[in-house]
Amino acid sequence: MVNDSSELSGLQQQAKTRQNIVEEITRKFAAEDEGLKHALKAAKQAGLPEIQISPIQGKFLQLLAVACNAQKILEIGSLGGYSGIWLARALPANGHFITLEINPTHAELVRNAFAQAGVSDRAEVRVGNALDLLPLLEHEAPFDLIFIDADKPPYPQYLDWALRLSRPGSIIVADNTIRSGKGFEEPQDEGMAGIVAFNNRIASDPRLISLDLAMDDDYTDGFAISVVRQ
Ligand code: DHB
Ligand code: MG
Repeated sequence: MVNDSSELSGLQQQAKTRQNIVEEITRKFAAEDEGLKHALKAAKQAGLPEIQISPIQGKFLQLLAVACNAQKILEIGSLGGYSGIWLARALPANGHFITLEINPTHAELVRNAFAQAGVSDRAEVRVGNALDLLPLLEHEAPFDLIFIDADKPPYPQYLDWALRLSRPGSIIVADNTIRSGKGFEEPQDEGMAGIVAFNNRIASDPRLISLDLAMDDDYTDGFAISVVRQ
């Protein structure tokens, strides 16, 4: 039909406009330096999936870290160290960034990426299952910002730990909470069950003020952002 094709070209135009906006914002506010580029290249060479956050999301994490005057940041799930570099760079010189990684080979890759990016003085990788490592962090709490980006089924448990390891004013961010809208539907697998439960929890927990924001490259996935209330 005539209307279908004009509607389609309108949608294509919109998608193109959005893509241009992402590119312009990235160029102006979130350009990658050699350290970040090295982390991406090394992760790709090691065969890691290319599912790291976008540059805009990295800059957004930095903005949140500075907004809450973060001195201590915790990340659950390192992948190739890309988000860790963004986060560690938002810290003051005496700040501390801890990232939890289950895969020892990936952890070594991440340490190397941190060294290349010049953040080894403040960024530490701990190897193990996050649910085993989190209880050991209680004496290092509270963390000012906690970024959850690991396996999806335990997201609600990670939220429990984030609440336990935070303080009023801490910011809790979780990646992949939208998933093209599946984050709000009846879950079809364990991963989505974790994410749907996470969204339900942060939307209703009186200790938090929360919002899901679509902010990946095509606005179909994004972050859940929660602030721990005073
Ligand atoms: C997957 C995990 C992620 O953290 C992500 O950002 C994208 C995809 C995944 O497991 O498929
Ligand atoms: Mg992710």
